[in-house]
Amino acid sequence: MLNYDQLVNSALADLNNCHSLDLLEKVRVKYFGKNGEIAILLKKLSTLSDEEKSTTGKKINSLKQSFFQKFEEKKQSIEQKQIQKKLEGEQVDISLPTREFEEFNSKVHPITHTVNEIISILGSMGLNYEEGPDIENDFYNFSALNIPQNHPAREMHDTFYVDNGKEDLVLRTHTSPVQVRCLQKKEFPLGIFAPGRTYRCDSDITHTPMFHQVEGLVVDYSITFSNLKWFLEKFCKIFFDNNNLKLRFRPSYFPFTEPSAEVDINCSLSSGKIELGKGSEWMEILGCGMVHPNVLEMSGVKDKKLQGFAFGMGIERLSMLKYGMPDLRDFYDCNLNWLSHYGFSFLETTDLSWR
Ligand code: PHE
Repeated sequence: MLNYDQLVNSALADLNNCHSLDLLEKVRVKYFGKNGEIAILLKKLSTLSDEEKSTTGKKINSLKQSFFQKFEEKKQSIEQKQIQKKLEGEQVDISLPTREFEEFNSKVHPITHTVNEIISILGSMGLNYEEGPDIENDFYNFSALNIPQNHPAREMHDTFYVDNGKEDLVLRTHTSPVQVRCLQKKEFPLGIFAPGRTYRCDSDITHTPMFHQVEGLVVDYSITFSNLKWFLEKFCKIFFDNNNLKLRFRPSYFPFTEPSAEVDINCSLSSGKIELGKGSEWMEILGCGMVHPNVLEMSGVKDKKLQGFAFGMGIERLSMLKYGMPDLRDFYDCNLNWLSHYGFSFLETTDLSWR
């Protein structure tokens, strides 16, 4: 009843014709699955005589053995071929020229780059990074900074007012409100810097309605104007990567510092371009001073022995001076040609070897 040889031949031939693991599995099911040929055969076994049962059983066992031996061999060879094929597909031809990836054409905006540089430098000089909100209330942006209502100093800032029908909100006109927020925490000694967006209703070759500043504030018992001078000189020399840079502190007025100064760096303007650290012309770069006692008081600092320095710098201005960009408005024109020229590779990092 069992054409044994035929069954063995057809099973082994089926295995031989398999070229994928899927097919191999199908063949296994065809013969050894629940309803496969062998299962049907086993069901019939009960109808056979004892002798036939024994010989047929042995034959089925030996068929099983040779089938699965062949099955394993075939499986291994298919898997081997698949690995081989995958490896060939992954082979890298190192003699091919490099491909220009999109990512490598994209550039980091000069403001982002400059902010990152400032963060690296001020961070390394021991100040902590802080942030404040873009929308401030009148207290933080003005009153606490010793600029009371109706004070003419408010005219120095062309303020954008935000109307929410409840309180006096403004788009912060400078990063100085972060000073007040940090002083209120009353954790001394205090050393922070806060870069961020600022807003003034002004637009021409040297002003955009939105621009960036970085605020610095250091408060302790023995902070003096000399500390401020040393600090800013160090920062400028590192930022502009120029040890010959000279700083000039020019007396000035800010309501929240006393005394106040504006800082210029020396430059030469001959041959139509600005060269920093050379020549006898001066270029203004920042405002600074000793924190006004009223600011400390308005911020709830009771200890009269605490004193500190503060400074504020325009980030666009620093960036333009360092990288020779002529027009401030270009920063926000979304011009890809400008960005591909003045932008930075995202792999570029700040050189901190001066440390
Ligand atoms: N907030 C001032 C400005 O926007 C800059 C400044 C900051 C001056 C801190 C002194 C101290 O011009």
